[in-house]
Amino acid sequence: MPHNPARFAVMGNPIAHSKSPVIQQALAAQCGVAMQYNKLLVAEDGFAEAVMLFFANGGTGLNITLPFKEQAYQLAVQLSEQAQAAGAVNTLKLNSHGQLFGHNTDGIGLVGALQQLTPLAGQRILIIGAGGAARGVILPLLQAHVAHIAIYNRTASKAADLVTNFGQQLPAYQQQLQQQAHLNGQFDIVINASSAALVGGEDHAQYTNLSFNVGFEMAYGKDTHFTAHAKQIDAKVADGIGMLIGQAVESFAWWHGVRPQPERIDWNSLLNITPTQ
Ligand code: ATR
Repeated sequence: MPHNPARFAVMGNPIAHSKSPVIQQALAAQCGVAMQYNKLLVAEDGFAEAVMLFFANGGTGLNITLPFKEQAYQLAVQLSEQAQAAGAVNTLKLNSHGQLFGHNTDGIGLVGALQQLTPLAGQRILIIGAGGAARGVILPLLQAHVAHIAIYNRTASKAADLVTNFGQQLPAYQQQLQQQAHLNGQFDIVINASSAALVGGEDHAQYTNLSFNVGFEMAYGKDTHFTAHAKQIDAKVADGIGMLIGQAVESFAWWHGVRPQPERIDWNSLLNITPTQ
């Protein structure tokens, strides 16, 4: 009897641009795992139904991308610690009771990518932005023993709310998180989690008073004013491609119970990208 490979997919809207199938298939090939991995375009109002149908038809695991990460969080019956802290889910599977189990690997992916550039223990971090992307990286950074995280956001009240809510949810870390009123100062690492560059709302001058050793731009595939400033001040700089690969590795390990070795894959030629530095 022919053996049907396990079925996986990424759901989003839009989805055509997604690199997840290429990344997941490369990881599967390395680990000798047979799997199908498709891109599924899901209607804005059809997410819950699409997820239920996928698993009812024998699907094994899903990645979730924009704009459905919060909906996936609401839908999951069981949540990992990372998903709870992020308030968003980017990876789903069924637990041993057949219930939806949600995880968030974005932040762990970022930490993995950052660790390629610098050790994290004891570092002073600034995060620019206070949306879902910023929220998702806080717990994995703290678990990597950074000394301190400051959060700056254009809308200051959102940064304040994020700090307060996170501190209430995880009081053990309360002392290490605080709001940053202005985009200035000296840090070991600055992470740009704002979508300003994607919507054309970024300018070079806003970074003038900011200095740091490592700059991490969450967007990928384009130079931004943030990466330009980082290069100008001779900081090490990386873009979100490492985070994309890192989150894929974590999702793969969570689904299959096997940990790939991403450093042994030539991602630049596979994904057709030019390294930021
Ligand atoms: P994501 O889930 O990707 O984080 P989001 O929740 O919409 O997306 O958050 C986007 C972040 O980028 C927010 O911190 C937003 O700042 P505001 O809270 O002030 O809206 C930030 N952002 C978006 N456009 C911006 C701009 N033109 N200038 C500065 N910050 C911007």
